[in-house]
Amino acid sequence: MINYKNGNLTVESVDVTKIVSEVGTPFYCYSYNKILDQYRGLAAALSSSKISIYFAVKANSNLSIIKALAKEGAGADVVSLGEFKRCLLAGVDPKKIVFSGVGKTTEEIVEALNNDIFQINVESEAELININEIAKSLGKVATIGLRVNPDVDAKTHEKITTGKKENKFGIDLKDAPLFFSKASTLSNVSMKSLAVHIGSQLLELSPYKSAYEKIAEMTQYLRSTGHEISHLDLGGGLGIPYSDESLADLNAYNQIISETVGDLDCKLSIEPGRYLVGEAGILITRVIYIKQGEQKKFVIVDGAMNDLIRPTLYDGFHAIVAVTEKNLSSQKSLCDVVGPICESGDYFAKDRMLPEVSQNDLLAITCSGAYGAVMASNYNSRPLIPEVLVSNDVFSVIRERQAFEKIIQDEKLAAWLQ
Ligand SMILES: Cc1ncc(COP(=O)(O)O)c(C=O)c1O
Repeated sequence: MINYKNGNLTVESVDVTKIVSEVGTPFYCYSYNKILDQYRGLAAALSSSKISIYFAVKANSNLSIIKALAKEGAGADVVSLGEFKRCLLAGVDPKKIVFSGVGKTTEEIVEALNNDIFQINVESEAELININEIAKSLGKVATIGLRVNPDVDAKTHEKITTGKKENKFGIDLKDAPLFFSKASTLSNVSMKSLAVHIGSQLLELSPYKSAYEKIAEMTQYLRSTGHEISHLDLGGGLGIPYSDESLADLNAYNQIISETVGDLDCKLSIEPGRYLVGEAGILITRVIYIKQGEQKKFVIVDGAMNDLIRPTLYDGFHAIVAVTEKNLSSQKSLCDVVGPICESGDYFAKDRMLPEVSQNDLLAITCSGAYGAVMASNYNSRPLIPEVLVSNDVFSVIRERQAFEKIIQDEKLAAWLQ
């Protein structure tokens, strides 16, 4: 869906340079049909396991993206009131929303309960008690799941691993029976679900297998002690190929699900984020200057770490390609592709062999559809950049470039400075 036609990078049938002439640079560009393909491919591969897919909105929470996936049948996994409100605005049925996260506030829990969402995943005893009290005050019974921490190494970057003992997420798996006993004494919660999410950008399936085996064992144990378990939330985390990594095979993933939890007669769900949207996005940026350093060349572009922080935050690798193919054939040289921000951490690529790049060239930073725009900030008072969605031969600006007035609008001079 994102490839070269007649020497120019195109997203579906739209020439990237055409979008540049309308919106300027930098901007994010997403392929609508690639997102649908990812969703449909995943749903098809897991169809024999009869799994519900809840899109982890944190990966890309633009209203159009949430709506596109909701129209395909996806539910949503949210972690904040803001994400929850976005889902309602995008038309997601509240009965298809799961609320996750270690620090849900009373305001968030009230909103979730008032909208009768599918499930709130509880992550601590204090939260369990708070949800019960809030539900009582609203005259409701909250449907909740218990997020457990299986102490499994997801073999991914340390900042995106979430299922190890030292991580803040979930409760120790061995404490699950205590939580179920406690919940059964509370009148305003109904807990019949276990949830697990061990990390993000998983390329190997063995950690899933270990985690799901533990969940299956715990499900059986809880049942043997009289608790009803009717739903298992198997989390997200499926990886994408940022470079030449080989991906986890979806059919093998399906088989693991079926072999570990398939016979438990539970409703099953997963919460993918990156897998659905990551490969569908590129960040288009223009070269402002080239600076030849002593050891390498600095390609200074108009995008920066405030637009895409993955390289800085997670050492994330993104392949960088020229928008106009002519640049591809030239001799390669050692480059850092950097933004204009006053931080040495402001880079998209470090020590990368790249073909000849010139001032004013357009570059595409690939695989930027997940954890890109959602993590953007106004650092250095830089405006949030546009997001563009392409479908076949049409494109739509689904987020405008932020005006300076909007960056500044909530600030006020202190009374004594006026
Ligand atoms: C609870 C939960 N579910 C799902 C996800 C989505 O992960 P991914 O985008 O790797 O699929 C996350 C992200 O870390 C998460 O914390």
